[in-house]
Amino acid sequence: MKLLAFAATNSRNSINRALVEYAANRLKSSFQPDADIEIIDLNDYEMPIYSIDREQETGIPAAARDLFAKIGAADGIIVSFAEHNGLVTAAWKNAFDWMSRIDGKVWQDKPMVMLAASPGPRAGANVLASQEMLTPFFGGEIRGTLGIGTWSEAWDAANSTLLRAEDSAALDETLVKLAA
Ligand SMILES: Cc1cc2nc3c(=O)[nH]c(=O)nc-3n(C[C@H](O)[C@H](O)[C@H](O)COP(=O)(O)O)c2cc1C
Repeated sequence: MKLLAFAATNSRNSINRALVEYAANRLKSSFQPDADIEIIDLNDYEMPIYSIDREQETGIPAAARDLFAKIGAADGIIVSFAEHNGLVTAAWKNAFDWMSRIDGKVWQDKPMVMLAASPGPRAGANVLASQEMLTPFFGGEIRGTLGIGTWSEAWDAANSTLLRAEDSAALDETLVKLAA
């Protein structure tokens, strides 16, 4: 099983990147030892802000095509969404908009687990709710979602691990659905 994992944010010290890396390692070590997991960084897919004029003048950027191809090549996806003002980050929305011009089924019928890490107690509930609602329309097969809130209390940065037993258990429960 070839899995693609990434955080939907362009922040360099991303808490969602920490979570998605942890989740990917956990999936491999506990549930899917033969998984071939590639973790990508959205910063490696920088692209101009979408506009219909830009698309007509210069076409779809190579970075959008490359990212779309990465999704297409995977058997499953783990994505962790940063929440900006209740929604996905501008960087991810932009990449998504460009990719949707290649094919509206951006997620290409892939099974996926959607995570969110947030400094606040709501654990990215808004961004996850919007993605849960929209993802099926864009060809994503959601196997599970999980938000981890109050990140500074949830995460042991020195040891790169989740601190609360209930978060670890919930993550395992979610990941096992992707491995199934
Ligand atoms: C413009 C902006 C808007 C934000 N809005 C929210 C929000 O609506 N909900 C939330 O929980 N955190 C919000 N935050 C805090 C982010 O969750 C926090 O910066 C987090 O580290 C982002 O994830 P990342 O580190 O993976 O990029 C916001 C941060 C920024 C910069």
